[in-house]
Amino acid sequence: MKIVAANWKLNKNPQQTREFLQEFKKSYKAKNAAEKIVFFPPATNLESAAQVLTGSGIEFGAQNCHRDYKGAFTGEISAQVVKDLGAQWVLVGHSERRKIFLEKDELIARKVSAVQEIGLHPMLCIGETLEERQEGKTNLMLNAQLQIGLQGADRKKFVVVAYEPVWAIGTGVVATAEQVQEAHEYIYKLITQMGFSVETPILYGGSVKGDNAKQLSQIPHVDGFLVGGASLEVPSFLEIVNAI
Ligand code: PGA
Repeated sequence: MKIVAANWKLNKNPQQTREFLQEFKKSYKAKNAAEKIVFFPPATNLESAAQVLTGSGIEFGAQNCHRDYKGAFTGEISAQVVKDLGAQWVLVGHSERRKIFLEKDELIARKVSAVQEIGLHPMLCIGETLEERQEGKTNLMLNAQLQIGLQGADRKKFVVVAYEPVWAIGTGVVATAEQVQEAHEYIYKLITQMGFSVETPILYGGSVKGDNAKQLSQIPHVDGFLVGGASLEVPSFLEIVNAI
C-alpha cells in the first residue's frame, strides 16, 4: 500500500480547507486501489474536511488527540469525536508534539491504543534529532520510540509509521537516500520482529517536495510520505502524489 499524507499543522481555516479539498478532489485521479491520500487539517477544520471528502475515497484525520475520550481535559481533542466526524486517522507523536508539548513515548503509546480502540488508524511519527544522529544514536532512538510507542498496540490492526528525522522537518534538508534506506530497513525489521501481522506501511517525512519525491519513493520500504510545507498548495502536493 502507498500512502501520501498531508500534515497542515496550524494552517488554513475551515473555508480554506473546503476550497483546497474541492480543488484537490477535482484534479486527483487515483492510480490504483492500493493508494491512499490522507489529510490532517487542524482539528477545528475536520468538519469542513468531512463535508468535502465524505464518499470521495480520500481520507482525513486529526493531528493529535487525548488519551481519554471524554472528561475534564480542557482544550483537548477526543478521538471519539474525531471518529464521529467521519475521520479515519489520528497522527500521533509528531516531533512538534514531542518537542513543544513535551509528549513522551509512554503518553504516545496510550494515544496509539486509544486511537485503535475507537476504530481509527494511528499514524505514529518517530525520528531522531540531529544531535542524536551525530552521537550515533539514531537506531537506539527509533527502537525506543517504536517499542514504547507501540507497546499497547493491537498487532492485528493497521498502524502506519512515519519516519521523520527531526532535522529534516521544515528545514529544506532532506535525508540522503542512504540515510532513508538505512532507517526504513531498520524500522521494517523491528516492526516485523514485534509481530505485526498486517502490512505496516512506513512513510518518510521531512522536506519532501515534488522534485525529490520520485527518487525517495524508489527506496526499498518507503511506502509513501508525510508532507508538511509542500502539502499547503494543491499543485505542489499533487506533484508529490503523482511522483509515487
Ligand atoms: P515538512 O514537514 O514537509 O514541512 O518538512 C513534515 C512534517 O512535519 O510532517
